[in-house]
Amino acid sequence: MCENNAILEAQNLTKKFKISKNSTLTACDDISLKFYQGKTLGIVGESGCGKSTFIKMLSLITKPTSGEIMFRGCDITKLKGEEKRNNHSHIQMIFQNPLEALPPRMKIRDIICEPLLNFKKIKNHEKDEIARKYLEMVELPEEFALRYPHHMSGGQRQRIGIARALVLEPELIICDEATSALDVSVQKNIIELLIRLQKQKQISIGFICHDIVLVSQISHQVAVMYLGNIVEILPGKDLHKYAIHPYTKGLLHSVFYLGMDKSTKIDKLTGEVPSPVNLPNGCPFQSRCSDAKQLCREIKPKLREYQEGHMVACHLLPIDKPV
Ligand SMILES: Nc1ncnc2c1ncn2[C@@H]1O[C@H](COP(=O)(O)OP(=O)(O)OP(=O)(O)O)[C@@H](O)[C@H]1O
Ligand code: SF4
Ligand SMILES: [Mg+2]
Repeated sequence: MCENNAILEAQNLTKKFKISKNSTLTACDDISLKFYQGKTLGIVGESGCGKSTFIKMLSLITKPTSGEIMFRGCDITKLKGEEKRNNHSHIQMIFQNPLEALPPRMKIRDIICEPLLNFKKIKNHEKDEIARKYLEMVELPEEFALRYPHHMSGGQRQRIGIARALVLEPELIICDEATSALDVSVQKNIIELLIRLQKQKQISIGFICHDIVLVSQISHQVAVMYLGNIVEILPGKDLHKYAIHPYTKGLLHSVFYLGMDKSTKIDKLTGEVPSPVNLPNGCPFQSRCSDAKQLCREIKPKLREYQEGHMVACHLLPIDKPV
């Protein structure tokens, strides 16, 4: 993948929440990831592993404890006031529950046009035309312009969320469980729409989801997250066949496929995810890993290149090139 095309780059991003006088919760620990133009980066991991905290840092909703976020080569963590506000137009978010995300008392036309009005990019009399254009883009009839969010289905509302995210012509759209609440056929339509728009506009997409199979199918690259750490990064198309981190393999083996071979060994993940408060030394996955050795309890494995485009953080792997 071409290095020069990285739109957004997280460099060693860490977020620690002080939750009492003596304890700190580490939601994200030293995460470095890149988002490329026209490509999708999927992020998977169990609930509470830090996915939303990570992307809230990228969109400047949450301030990182340390680390940098480079947008087109400029560190945006230092932005303030107008510059910070302007940066929001480059990176847009789509959330899981569009009913909560869309203002209930506003008509769809006004919801779609609000970001443009806020940035003084259009005049009031242009709203009808803009709403029509973006409704067409997300394949909804123009009559929807005068409806309210509660007069629409979940899938239709999510299309409005996409239209609203698109109006500022962002370079990166981050979907945080954006399709998880939808039934499978509606989910498929929304994902097809996103992929079509990505091809047309060369947008970079961050796709955060619990569903590892779905993520692997639609992502050019997948980052697997465990307890605030990225433990494996590899091409989405290789995930099923070539994943090697014990956690990624555990996630994959927890999935049931239609028509799967009944003799397939289900080596599913057991045990609770440990608390992210006052984490122990060593590998974050040690308490659930059947391969854990003494070294795993003492030293935290670094993310290293295993093969081109494939990085892993595990002591058992025959690699000696820290990134
Ligand atoms: N403002 C906060 N104050 C304290 N702890 C927080 C805060 N926000 C998140 N956390 C904690 O940080 C950890 C990561 O939370 P986060 O919401 O990022 O996880 P997630 O991977 O998005 O989970 P899910 O899949 O359930 O959405 C969790 O342990 C959560 O309780
Ligand atoms: S470093 Fe050790 S505990 Fe961690 S995943 Fe690898 S083998 Fe398991
Ligand atoms: Mg979340």
